[in-house]
Amino acid sequence: MEFNEVVLGRRSIRGFKPEPVPKDVIREIVALAIRAPSSMNTQPWHLHVVSGAPLERIRQGNTERNLAGVPASREIRMHGPYAGIHRERQKAIAAQLFEAMDIDWADKARRHDWVMRGFRQFDAPVSIVVTFDRDLEDNDIAIFDCGAVVNCLVNAAWSKGLGCVINGQGIMQSPVVREHARIPDDQVIMSCVAMGYPADDFPANAVVSRRRAVDEVVNFVGFDEA
Ligand SMILES: Cc1cc2nc3c(=O)[nH]c(=O)nc-3n(C[C@H](O)[C@H](O)[C@H](O)COP(=O)(O)O)c2cc1C
Repeated sequence: MEFNEVVLGRRSIRGFKPEPVPKDVIREIVALAIRAPSSMNTQPWHLHVVSGAPLERIRQGNTERNLAGVPASREIRMHGPYAGIHRERQKAIAAQLFEAMDIDWADKARRHDWVMRGFRQFDAPVSIVVTFDRDLEDNDIAIFDCGAVVNCLVNAAWSKGLGCVINGQGIMQSPVVREHARIPDDQVIMSCVAMGYPADDFPANAVVSRRRAVDEVVNFVGFDEA
């Protein structure tokens, strides 16, 4: 695929075929992803590719703890609820997804079901837990670097016919993820990426999220100065 085709075509995938993803395909995708730039080429990331029984245990543990009302525990600093324009954008993508899935805002049961799907990593056959070296814990640059590798990862996966959703919900109960994905103590859990072959008939997979206009994002300085 051409670069434009990958970047413009990629979207988050939240419904997957049950078929497993061969290890060799994941290796090819990771080989592309780890060409991501990082500060001083430190490459602080680790990718824990979880499938099968351990992933089922993570889904189950996340579900049980969330239903029991255990507060979220993440290993990176978190913002509180979004406000202002960020909240508006959050609401806009939720509205697009709910419309596609035919979920009414007033239908609390189906909204709850959608949230629980997120905690189950959308039942994807693979979850890639992204961590970084703990000795860089007080260093925001390591988190920037993890973002770079994850962006490369989701685009590389798309270029090979796979779909992903970066899934903050999937690591909200981080002790469960740490235990079953067997994360070493000297690494910090950053996020996870649910991955698999996109289900053709899952309506949310067709949602194309909106973006701000280039002129709203960019601030050219000095171009028109003599
Ligand atoms: C750090 C991060 C965390 C995310 N966590 C979730 C999540 O928990 N659940 C979910 O459905 N989507 C999650 N997403 C996906 C975003 O909602 C999605 O990328 C955004 O709406 C843009 O849509 P697109 O990926 O289809 O272009 C996350 C994305 C990022 C970058």
